[in-house]
Amino acid sequence: GFATALSSGALAQDVSGKVIGFSQIGSESGWRAAETSVTRQQAEERGVDLKFADAQQKQENQIKAIRGFIAQGVDAILVAPVVATGWEDVLSEAQEAEIPVVLLDRGIDAPEDLYLTSVASDQVHEGRVAGQWLVDEVAGEDCNVVELQGTVGSSPAINRKQGFEEAIADASNITIAQSQTGDFTRSKGKEVMEAFLKSSNGGADICAVYAHNDDMAVGAIQAIKDAGLAPGEDILVVSIDAVPDIFTAIAAGEANATVELTPNMAGPAFDALGAYWSDGTMPEKFIITESKLYTAADDPQGEYERRKDLGY
Ligand code: AHR
Repeated sequence: GFATALSSGALAQDVSGKVIGFSQIGSESGWRAAETSVTRQQAEERGVDLKFADAQQKQENQIKAIRGFIAQGVDAILVAPVVATGWEDVLSEAQEAEIPVVLLDRGIDAPEDLYLTSVASDQVHEGRVAGQWLVDEVAGEDCNVVELQGTVGSSPAINRKQGFEEAIADASNITIAQSQTGDFTRSKGKEVMEAFLKSSNGGADICAVYAHNDDMAVGAIQAIKDAGLAPGEDILVVSIDAVPDIFTAIAAGEANATVELTPNMAGPAFDALGAYWSDGTMPEKFIITESKLYTAADDPQGEYERRKDLGY
């Protein structure tokens, strides 16, 4: 399973017998579904009794779930925060109850002492990696980019936008022509891309699409095909996550690049909790996962199969 496949080989810290609540955002993307299944797998392998709550994209549901976990007296709480703001009250309640909280995959705007650690990627860096790929790819040619942003107010939407803008700042040939949220979903990505194409001379004025996640890119690819253009050629496609479906698109020449986000955030979270419980070791405040770029040169079919084998 994932523990053996993805851990660094270090002995997993003991969390067996612990009751841990997990407030998950929902199932907006393939990546989110993979994170949910990996978290369940990690919990099972380590003997954790995982209490899972799906918030269906609503912060109020997450706050309710966290209050429920506190009332049950769980040993720890994992939360993937849908948006960045509005967490202080409920996290203070967890702190008063002396229940450690670990943030998974997204950051929040709140004092750092309200959580034990945060396991996430450097999302500004992810945006920079995607932007730098485009800078190199278009090599000085004029390029109008359309951007599909993630969920409004979420840390990955804010940071991936910032990082991409930083990477293209000195490239006067690259312009972000249009930018809108696609809410991290395939259907919204397709819908917004259709509108972008209509207002850009049927797509003739678009050189590239930058999507904050692969699912929106997959939706955009469909819209580009429906408009009679060739995604990956007429319009370049770069996104973030590295889920199996984007590797299918890359293998077919319909997408060009993706930045990997591991769905195994729970493994490092359980390691940190185990160490904390065994001898009081305080983990790093930010445990940063890798952000590797993949293109057609990186065996997309093999990457697809590797992820399928891991249970994505
Ligand atoms: O927070 C991580 C982001 O959330 C993923 O990139 C996206 O697919 C998911 O919805």
